[in-house]
Amino acid sequence: MAKRILGIESSCDETAAAILEGETRVLSSIVASQLSVHGKYGGVVPELASREHLRSIVPVVREAIAAAGLTFGDLDAVAATSGPGLAGSLLVGLTYAKAIAFATGIPLIAVNHIEGHIHAVILEAAASGRPVEFPALALIASGGHTHLFEVRQPGAYRLLGRTRDDAAGEAFDKVAKLLGFGYPGGPVIDMLAPHGNPRAIRFTLANMKGNKLDFSFSGLKTAVLRWVEARNMTPEIEARKVLVRTNPIPTVDQWLAVTPQGTLDLLASFQCTVIEELLNHAVRAAETASESGDGVRSLIVSGGVACNSGLRAAATERAIGLPVYFPTRALSTDNAVMIAAAAYPLYRAGRFSALDIPAEPNLTLA
Ligand code: KG4
Ligand code: ZN
Repeated sequence: MAKRILGIESSCDETAAAILEGETRVLSSIVASQLSVHGKYGGVVPELASREHLRSIVPVVREAIAAAGLTFGDLDAVAATSGPGLAGSLLVGLTYAKAIAFATGIPLIAVNHIEGHIHAVILEAAASGRPVEFPALALIASGGHTHLFEVRQPGAYRLLGRTRDDAAGEAFDKVAKLLGFGYPGGPVIDMLAPHGNPRAIRFTLANMKGNKLDFSFSGLKTAVLRWVEARNMTPEIEARKVLVRTNPIPTVDQWLAVTPQGTLDLLASFQCTVIEELLNHAVRAAETASESGDGVRSLIVSGGVACNSGLRAAATERAIGLPVYFPTRALSTDNAVMIAAAAYPLYRAGRFSALDIPAEPNLTLA
């Protein structure tokens, strides 16, 4: 019978649990978001995040098991994110997974969160009958990570480049916060960018010394800050802050009512620059791989920023020369399906974790 794995994810500000049967059958997926807790602070507050995980972990896991129509006795393994992420947040999910493993006698599988993001795409592609072809490039862009990997096959990763400062999602969040758009910034900027001119402002990106496949987004964030400082934008920023305070999820029309054209152009130009930076790196990595004879056969894009409509459109329109695979939006941001999916090959290989495995906030992949 197909094995059932309970996945648990708690590395940042989502408490999630999911059950996967076999390699691709998702029996349930529950995500409890903490947006309402962190929104007013303009970013994730680690202490509040761990407290919220503590509150949610038991009900979220129970809900995932109930939604799948199962009991703890029907599970074959429990997988949890052991890193990278916030220490206090990781500990909640990992410790609860250890308790389940101890109490039920099923094996524990520790999963790397970034490997999870890659497996979200591998799972959905396989389930749709268009499996990812390897070797692949994987671009993981979220609030905490911006990494480019070569994936020779699932489980075999080589880091090609990473951000030297801010992550791509972090740049979206910081620019949005600066302009009074609340947190998280990515979805709002994504929603408003089509109303602006992406060529209105020419931002230049850092010419990286050393590894040309590394990313840098802090210069862009500073350029936006300088642009804002050079103009009197306080009244419109204050109007947006009032809007967020009175209405946590404004509609596009409500945003447009407090956002002049110049600011929409700024958002569109900023987003366009981030997208170009991400895709330029992927194209360069693909070219380098083909020059060295290795060659890659597809591009995987995952992580919260993979939700971005502009990035999805650009990745399809631009001649990258590779088939591009995005996860559905639900599996782009943090979830536990991806953790169970990454655990599946480890389960088959018998690569279980000891119950004293530590949470590793700085865990790397490859
Ligand atoms: O993967 P994720 O849920 O959590 C981390 O592992 O960080 O990603 C969250 C990040 C946030 O920075 C958020 O602003 C960004 O993903 N994000 C987006 C979009 N939706 C979420 N960025 C750009 N466009 C979006 N539509
Ligand atoms: Zn993530």
